[in-house]
Amino acid sequence: MARTLTNSHAHFKLAEQRLPLGVASNFRYWGEERTIYIKSGRGGRITDIDDNIYVDYRLGYGPAILGYADARVDEAARQGMALGGVFALSTEMELQVAARISRMVPAAELVRFSNSGTEAVMAALRLARAYTGRDDYVLLEGSYHGLFDAAMWHVPMHAWNQQGEPEVTPYSEGVPVNSRSLAHFVQMNDANALETVLARHAGRIACLLIEPIMGNCLGIAADQAYLLAARRLCDKYNVLMIIDEVKTGFRVARGGVQELYGVQADICTFAKAVANGYPISVLAGREHIMRKIGRGVAHGGTYTAHPVSLAAADRTLQILEETDALERIAEYGTKLRAGMSAVLGARGIPHSFVGHPSMSGLYFAEKPPRTYRDWKGSDYSFYNEMAQHLHDEGVLCEPDSREPWFMCAAHDESCLSDTLRGFERAVDRTVTDGAVRRKLSA
Ligand SMILES: Cc1ncc(COP(=O)(O)O)c(C=O)c1O
Repeated sequence: MARTLTNSHAHFKLAEQRLPLGVASNFRYWGEERTIYIKSGRGGRITDIDDNIYVDYRLGYGPAILGYADARVDEAARQGMALGGVFALSTEMELQVAARISRMVPAAELVRFSNSGTEAVMAALRLARAYTGRDDYVLLEGSYHGLFDAAMWHVPMHAWNQQGEPEVTPYSEGVPVNSRSLAHFVQMNDANALETVLARHAGRIACLLIEPIMGNCLGIAADQAYLLAARRLCDKYNVLMIIDEVKTGFRVARGGVQELYGVQADICTFAKAVANGYPISVLAGREHIMRKIGRGVAHGGTYTAHPVSLAAADRTLQILEETDALERIAEYGTKLRAGMSAVLGARGIPHSFVGHPSMSGLYFAEKPPRTYRDWKGSDYSFYNEMAQHLHDEGVLCEPDSREPWFMCAAHDESCLSDTLRGFERAVDRTVTDGAVRRKLSA
């Protein structure tokens, strides 16, 4: 059943007069006909301005780990608000949250705060460059680390013809062309290729910037052996390992992906789940590296460690550390996978799941991808079409197959049954529409 989007359409017409693409972030523009505006969120569901209700698996790209409007976190935020505002001076809460993070993530010996994932990763790269005295860095094909120039070289895999090496291009106009030579690309799960790059450019590379479960690329995951090898290679070539946990942090385990894999970063970054959606991010790492901050390395900002976000972070992290929220989230994700698999299996549709049950990629090929290049071999157009039907059915995932589905502690049995009912209908509509198209073109 198609949704009614009358109010969203009307609002789009007004909004585009004042906001480029009618939105405040390019990623929120889904085309004139499909861009929606949100009225509210509660638990695992959100409501748009046409009163369509969705079970939400975007969760703002991950932050709402406990669900929207969590009463415990919002109450803490109100107490933070009562402090009076932003002082551009420190409050005692900074130490309390930093100490909790250090306890949860052993590599986070010292901690600094900022406001967004982009800010944290940008600072991590600067710190690695300062510490090593080198400028180059290694990125993985398919990775996303935010919208700052150095992280905006990428491999546009959709344009790759599956022969030869895919091109590396800027993600946006305005990225300085002469910064290209500083970024070196490798594929996930190929330690030999990583060693080749590190050996060839020894003495020029500051860091490997890696997200071991790629939260913007289906959740394609490092094999444990690969990540351990990458750690050893970083040590061998005196290159720092930055683990970007902006999406995985405090989600895939209490100690993030580092706990899951038993690997420790030199520098790591967190955001999203830290404060259940209040804006805060974390730059953390080994003491000898972090002590460069303030002793040669600039770091700071007017809104850094805002009392509202810090109070929300303290409460969110306490809940994640002390309750079984993460276990329940993973359990929900596992049940969702099983239900989807039953629907797809009954129709003979090859599929697999990637990533972690708490941030799960659905992949239309039998074997899960191990590199971004594998994605090119899957039936991603089926996914993209199915996603549109899912929205009509009240299930909100990103309309791009490369964004995993995020689970939260407020997703309950009713969310699960509504999702699976909608999923079955969306899959059937995608199959039927495809068959009709094939018939018409025959
Ligand atoms: C792994 C990773 N790093 C960095 C970022 C940038 O974070 P933000 O959007 O808060 O700037 C993102 C955003 O999705 C991300 O997934």
